[in-house]
Amino acid sequence: MSEKQISYQKCINPDCGAEFDNGQTLFKCPKCDELLDARYDWNKIEVPSKLSDFAKRWATRNNRLDFSGVWRFRELLNFCDDKYKVSIGEGQTILQKNDSVAKYVNMKPGCLFLEYEGLNPSGSFKDNGMTAAFSHAVMVGATSCACASTGNTSAAVALYAQSCGLKCTVFIGSGRIAFGKLSQAMDYGAQTIQIRGDFDDCMRQVQNVCIELGLYLLNSLNPFRLEGQKTIMYRIMEALGWEVPDWIVVPGGNLGNSSAFGKAFSELKELGLINKIPRLAIINATGADTLTDLVNNKKLTWNNGNVDQKIIDDFYADLTARNFSPHTCASAIEISRPVNLKKCLRAIEVCKGVVRAVTDEEILDAKALIGKHGLGCEPASAATIAGLKHLREEGIIGDSERVACVLTGHVLKDPDKTVNYHKNNDGIFSNPPIEAPNDLDAIIKLIK
Ligand code: F0G
Repeated sequence: MSEKQISYQKCINPDCGAEFDNGQTLFKCPKCDELLDARYDWNKIEVPSKLSDFAKRWATRNNRLDFSGVWRFRELLNFCDDKYKVSIGEGQTILQKNDSVAKYVNMKPGCLFLEYEGLNPSGSFKDNGMTAAFSHAVMVGATSCACASTGNTSAAVALYAQSCGLKCTVFIGSGRIAFGKLSQAMDYGAQTIQIRGDFDDCMRQVQNVCIELGLYLLNSLNPFRLEGQKTIMYRIMEALGWEVPDWIVVPGGNLGNSSAFGKAFSELKELGLINKIPRLAIINATGADTLTDLVNNKKLTWNNGNVDQKIIDDFYADLTARNFSPHTCASAIEISRPVNLKKCLRAIEVCKGVVRAVTDEEILDAKALIGKHGLGCEPASAATIAGLKHLREEGIIGDSERVACVLTGHVLKDPDKTVNYHKNNDGIFSNPPIEAPNDLDAIIKLIK
């Protein structure tokens, strides 16, 4: 890269640190194969002097970029010109104070908040990332795009691709995707390829396909996607009167969110827009717990960017030797080789993060509880409350700390899991339907 730009891409490997122009479409560093960050020269960007200044955009929300829950923070993700920005009204989300769920995890009233990302146009948090990545795709003139997915990415990619006229191919693992998500990809007109394999197989294949065919890749390897996902944190703070919570709890799959959240907070701190960084809790499912094992048992850390690659290589070699494929009811996070692992380790360092794994049973009970008392969510999202319960029991999170759990996907994404849980009386919050004869007296007797 010749002259320093307002925004550019930079390799996260400190021994490499190569920089590239944003006009280049790269998903890994061409020099060392590590992940890339979007970076900014903050001296050249007019960032508001306080976060509350962003609230002024509410008054001008007839401007599509001020209406977007992502682009109204555009100075903090200033990587392309406004004319390229794609928006379909993403990020109109709610931070719900939830005292009933707080009680379940033994927290004081007023302390637990649920960030409901299911309100996005495609029903998951992915839209925050897609609005940003598709803007970059438009800027570089992409005409055809692809992604691998456990479901939500494919739904969001399909929706944004049709909105800006890109051809779209999505790769999903056969039988590994919830019906709500599969139905979206097909309905929005994506070419849907079901690979006989799991998400990790799809992720490997899509990278090769994108290189071979020159397709634009929309997985979270894409550094611009993660820029959009930073705004989930801005909106949480906005809903808290621009205060920083004590904890953010998020499910961990491919680890894009956790990486983006860590980056959001370290940038805000660097800019002097916040004075403390919240702690981060990342929750895996026990059937897909690579991060938990690597961090808690193998003691893998960011270590100033000098991550011990041998620990990772040995871990993956063992998975291969055992022919391991992850399994969890939370199909969204059924991933054993998370592509953003290193960026996530960096976020764990920045946010003094902790990692836990929760069982499918815990996830489904937490999901039903959220449904009963909140806005509902899909299984992966409920891992947050199941994980929070662990962290409360361990005393790591205090009963009066302020906690925001990110509910990543809508309850209707995975109706099968919900119906089976209730119908089969599978858990403590099961609410099965009652069979009734077609007879008024008999029906009335059944009503409690
Ligand atoms: N929650 C939901 C509902 C998801 O769909 C995903 C990821 C995650 C959590 C995990 O987020 O990858 O940032 O750690 N879904 C991807 C997909 C993998 O293909 O839809 P992450």
